[in-house]
Amino acid sequence: MSKLIVANWKMNGSIKKINNDLNYYLNNMTTNRQNIVFAFPFTYIAYAKSIFDDKQTQSKLASQDLSRYGGYGAYTGEISNDILLDCGVTYSIIGHSERRVLNDTDEILIDKLNMAFNSRIKPIYCVGESYKVRQLHQYLEFLSKQLSILTKTKHIKDLVVAYEPIWAIGTNLVPEMKEIEEVALFIKDYISKTIPGINLLVLYGGSVNGSNASDILDVPGIDGVLVGGASLKIDEFTAICNVV
Ligand code: PGA
Repeated sequence: MSKLIVANWKMNGSIKKINNDLNYYLNNMTTNRQNIVFAFPFTYIAYAKSIFDDKQTQSKLASQDLSRYGGYGAYTGEISNDILLDCGVTYSIIGHSERRVLNDTDEILIDKLNMAFNSRIKPIYCVGESYKVRQLHQYLEFLSKQLSILTKTKHIKDLVVAYEPIWAIGTNLVPEMKEIEEVALFIKDYISKTIPGINLLVLYGGSVNGSNASDILDVPGIDGVLVGGASLKIDEFTAICNVV
């Protein structure tokens, strides 16, 4: 099975950059385009879709979040599942550590996950411990707690879990491959015991770049990577995509 590669642009980009970068990517990709996903800021998603449609690529789009409220209505500033689907979104990142610190509580995350599961949006649910928790060797307990909210959601069929240790995000620090393997297998075991029978992929995210991607993608239990900073350098990101 080929691996899933997700670009998380966070709060970056412009019309010009997206036009330039997607054209570079589409001209330089060799294989497996349907397994490459771009998460642009909300306002650029429809524009990116028009480029994808124009070039007939099978690559996918993700949102970096979605509203806990569904459909349409009086929720000023919110962006719902239906609006995202209309703009061509296939995946939604939910529970990124940068959103958890901005007030995404467990209760809100359960609503967002349900919103995705009830539509056709596949959630990329992010989990990951702080440096302090890792030092205290309490990371598996911590991750279990973050994963446990999945058992409170309904209608899960397709799930992507991204293991993103907070201390590895944007720091150039990457866990040992054995440490990534331990957590990937732990997540798979946890999910198979608590929510059996679902389609699960486990990604690693945190300082993935052109030099370490192929080693990380070879780790047993790892089905793909979530790439932040390095996805903004389109030649580096395209090289990562061409590894799979
Ligand atoms: P990074 O970010 O690749 O820049 O570490 C990853 C992420 O936050 O998704």
